[in-house]
Formats: sequence, C-alpha cells, structure tokens
Amino acid sequence: MTPGPAPSFPGDFLWGAATASYQIEGAGTADGRSESIWDTFSRMPGKVLHGHDGLTACDHYHRYPDDVALMRELNLTAYRFSLAWTRILPDGRTLNRPGLDFYSRLVDELLGAGVTPWLTLYHWDLPQALEDAGGWPERDTALRFVDYAAAVHDALGDRVHYWTTLNEPWCSAFLGYAAGVHAPGRTEPQAALRAAHHLLLGHGLATQELRRRDPSLSLGLTLNFTDTQPLDPASERDQDAARRLDGLANRFFVEPVTLGAYPQDVLADLGDLWPQDLVQDGDLEVISTPIDVLGVNYYATQAVTAGCPPERAPLAAAQARRHDLPSPSVGSEHVAVVRRGIPVSDMGWEISADGLSDLLLRLHKDYTGPLGVRLTVTENGAAMDDVPDATGYVEDRDRVDYLDRHLRAVHEALARGADVNGYFVWSLLDNFEWAWGYTKRFGIVRVDYDTQRRTPKASARWYADVAGSGLIRSRNGAGATAE
Ligand code: FCB
Repeated sequence: MTPGPAPSFPGDFLWGAATASYQIEGAGTADGRSESIWDTFSRMPGKVLHGHDGLTACDHYHRYPDDVALMRELNLTAYRFSLAWTRILPDGRTLNRPGLDFYSRLVDELLGAGVTPWLTLYHWDLPQALEDAGGWPERDTALRFVDYAAAVHDALGDRVHYWTTLNEPWCSAFLGYAAGVHAPGRTEPQAALRAAHHLLLGHGLATQELRRRDPSLSLGLTLNFTDTQPLDPASERDQDAARRLDGLANRFFVEPVTLGAYPQDVLADLGDLWPQDLVQDGDLEVISTPIDVLGVNYYATQAVTAGCPPERAPLAAAQARRHDLPSPSVGSEHVAVVRRGIPVSDMGWEISADGLSDLLLRLHKDYTGPLGVRLTVTENGAAMDDVPDATGYVEDRDRVDYLDRHLRAVHEALARGADVNGYFVWSLLDNFEWAWGYTKRFGIVRVDYDTQRRTPKASARWYADVAGSGLIRSRNGAGATAE
C-alpha cells in the first residue's frame, strides 16, 4: 500500500515534553526546600510501591543544564515543568529566595536553548505545613495558592509567557482525599469534594491575580480527561454509570471553569454528600475567570459498569494501585471500571487514539471553542515494559506506535476544526510515577537510576524527527522509509 502524505502541523505548533517537580527534581532537602505531602506519603508503609520516594529522583535539580541540552538535541520547542511550592514558600507563607532562584536559572537555561518555558504552579506537591493546617479541604489553602502564584510571578513573570495553575485537580482531590491512593492519603469523601472546590477556587483567584499583573500572559489549567464508555452500550445502568463518571471526573472540572456552573446531574448524584456551605457567593464567577488555554491530559479510554458487586468498584481509579482502598468516585462508588480486552499499556490503561480526537473535538465544540479558548495537549504518553540493551538504549517500538497514533489523532482533530496549539509528550525522562514509584517508565529518555545516565530511546529519536519537521513521516523515525 502506498502511504498517504505525511500529516503536517502548523509552523507555530508547540512541540514539547512534560515533567513535574516531585517526579524528577530530587534534591529533597536542598536550599531550604521543606517537605511536601508526597514526602510524607512516601514514608507511609505500603503507600508507594517498594517504599520509593522522590528524594533523589532524576536529580534534575543539579542536572538541569544537561537536561535542557537534551531537549534542544531532541528539537523540542517547549518544555512543561512544574514548580515545587515547598522550595518557594516552604512553610506556605515565607519566601525562600534560593528555591525560587533554581527556577530562574532553569528558565534562563531554557530560553538560552531556544526552548519555550511552560510552567505549572501546582502538580500535587502541597507543602506539608499547609496540609497540617487542613490542606485543600480548607478554603484558606486557595488563598495561600494565590500568594504562591504571586511570588512566582514576581520572579519569573518577565520571562515566562505560559502559565498553568493546576495539574489534574481531579487527582489531587479524589485520589488524594477520597481514595487515599495519592498524597495526602485521606479517605474522606466530603473532604474530597471540598478539596475539589477549593482547588478550582485557587485556580480562579490565581488567574485573576496573574491577569491583573500582566494581561498579556497565556493562562489556563490542565485537566485530565478519560473517555468513559458504558461496558454494555445497550444497558441503561451502564449508560448511567458512564454518565456518572464522565460527570465526576471530566464535567465536574471543565464546566465550572468554562460555563460557570457545576453540572446539575453530578450534584444530584452527590445528593447530601455535597456540602451546602461549600460554594460561597461569587465563587463560580471567580472559577470561570476567562482563560486562554485549556490543558488536556489524555492517556486512555475506560469502560464502566454498574453491574459489578460493590467490592469491585474501587478499580475505578485509573491511577490506583491499591484496590483495597475506597473508590475515588464519590457518590458513585458502585460504578466499576472493567477490562474489556482492548490492548493496554504497562499501567493497564486502554490504548485508544480515537479517544483523543473525539475528546479534543468534544471540548472544542462544547466548552472551549465558543469562548475562543485554545486547547493544548499538555500530557500524552505511555508506560511500556522497556528492555534496555547493554548500552542502555531502548528500542521502544510500542511507545513509538502509541505516540504516532495519538499524534495522528491530534492532527485529525485539528483538521476537523479543533483549535489545538501544541503537544507535550509525557514524559521527557523516566521518573517517579507516584504510587508506583520508579517501576513504571513513561520517558522518551531512559534514566538509569543508579548512575543517572540519560539515554534517548527510539521514541525520542522518532519524536525529534516529528518536532524538527512538523511532519509525522514514519514510525521508524528520522531518515527511515515510510511504512
Ligand atoms: C498524570 C500525571 C503525571 C503522570 C502521568 C502518567 O496523571 O499528571 O504526573 O504521572 O499521569
């Protein structure tokens, strides 16, 4: 079969890779950094596989010049990273200049290499001091977040254009406070709802503050979307199960931000669980403060059923490792995520590129398009069972295949009218995969954790060709003939 023309992306499309502070930085006690909820959680027996933690991770804190040089070699035009609140305001209130200086050096290094910095303020590592004061279920944490955003803007506002407030607030709220599979490991359903609202409030308040300081910034937040389908499309109970989880995980976050209201059907599902005193006058106006970009993290589809016995329901957390803990799906605990025989990644997540094009088109049509908000794929990638050769090189054809299919899906969504301005592969480096520790590898660059040696995998070579040319030429990477 003769291959068609290579899909071509707009010239200003951002080609990036993403990471997060706790997952790569290490230097856990350097320069005044305090403990985050992930430090504490990692020490709790049984919470993180093999008792792994982020204290050393990829040692990016010290190796960032090399890592930025690597980005340049891979033709990346953008880099999405998060900042550790614990380095900047270790007790949640007092500025720690040396911690902030690290990010200033990183930004300068990126700009010097021609890589556009895209920062995320909060990728899950809340200062433990703020958790001790109640954490995200407390309204005050949203106010502390604004102080933090302002401190970062004071230091980096002159050099960073792209600002993401939160990464995946669903995970912070529901995996952290309901299922307890992520830090801080609490299993309190109502606290999870409070956390969700206060995360969104923090996003809105910080967006207002940043906009007030500089109207020209590109502002937004990143949500995780899982395309949720009924296991039996003909079953009304499964259809309702899919509506519930799509509601709680997807619409519950995107609708207050873009439409200024929580979805009524989700509030009805929650019933008395929804705290009546939670939403104060004006909160939804704050939360729906205009943004420029909606970040989309997409990994998988999932099939759900209401037909399972309740003890199977905790499988609902795509990220959950511990199936003995409660469901993150507050008010819909009876809904179970089930395997249906579709190929999965090493996380057990269903691989479906169509889910990404469908999602981008749905978001554009229902939420962002009418507001003129752009979409950016801020994370997409796959953990695979990597096997390095004697030199550390990984011929990860499965990851290349995953990325190729998903980039084609992005291209298709663009061609059908979705306003997508960039794509960030998760992740630049193998790293600390939360409750899974270092056992899951998402990087396009292999990290040998004993030596900290970085070795670009086949997927990195392939992605460098796409990023450098703006074309998806072949699954065999640069210079190879089309399949
Ligand atoms: C996302 C997280 C990211 C990483 C990927 C695999 O939910 O944002 O930190 O763990 O999953």
